[in-house]
Amino acid sequence: MGQVDFDDYVIVKELFDTGEDKRAYVQSMFNAVAKRYDFMNSVLSVGIHHLWKRLTVAKTGIKPGQKALDICTGTADIAIRLAGKVGPSGKVTGVDFSKDMLAIGKQKVNQARLDNIDLIFGNVETLELPDEEFEAVTVGFGIRNVVRLNCAISEVLRVLKPGGRFACLEFSQPTSAVIRKLYDYYSLNIMPRMGKVLANDSMNGYFYLPKSIRLFPDQEKFKKILEEMGFVKVKYYNLTTGIAALHIGAKPN
Ligand SMILES: C[S@@+](CC[C@H](N)C(=O)[O-])C[C@H]1O[C@@H](n2cnc3c(N)ncnc32)[C@H](O)[C@@H]1O
Repeated sequence: MGQVDFDDYVIVKELFDTGEDKRAYVQSMFNAVAKRYDFMNSVLSVGIHHLWKRLTVAKTGIKPGQKALDICTGTADIAIRLAGKVGPSGKVTGVDFSKDMLAIGKQKVNQARLDNIDLIFGNVETLELPDEEFEAVTVGFGIRNVVRLNCAISEVLRVLKPGGRFACLEFSQPTSAVIRKLYDYYSLNIMPRMGKVLANDSMNGYFYLPKSIRLFPDQEKFKKILEEMGFVKVKYYNLTTGIAALHIGAKPN
């Protein structure tokens, strides 16, 4: 195991507290971990993130021939799943502001020989996409990283067609006290050390991860935020006892 000390947490806290600097930090951090990101996801979640992502896509209700958008698409796991659902007559757009995460995503899209996905560079707080374009918008483990959450959610509403669905997969708060204790220990002590050793985590991304999860609104609060922003029929599913939550909301007709 690598050497980790408390200073690493202090560094992350300062970065997190500085608002605008968070955006630059998040961008550089994902560029730094991009090559190892998929591998680390599979190791740290013991492969469970694939099940969570499959459910996210299923709950959009997206159909062949439709258009879907995946914001904070990263290495395009969710975009690739969506592409399978919309088929050759549909279209998937993925947006991210880490060029290195997108580069890995593009390799995966090419390997899968998919020509119904566009991966584009952009900030999800100010999407350069037309109004009412998509039947579904997804985001996986991205919304927690966005500095101006309200701007990103407004943009999702703007680009959704009336009646379109938003599916938001994010780390959340475990519902059982025992699991929460075990998870706290794992995420605060083991995960950052594994990040140092396995991902050469020079930007302390695996310290930022548990910190950002704890600062993000819990399941109920996030549901209320989505309702206040204008989504209807909002509900959520606790996944793996609430370690992650999938929120679903619809744009009013
Ligand atoms: C944890 S990764 C998630 C990647 C992918 N969705 C997944 O589920 O594996 C978060 C992604 O959000 C992106 N991101 C964070 N804030 C963003 C913003 N404001 N605009 C665009 N991308 C952003 C990061 O660059 C990173 O690729």
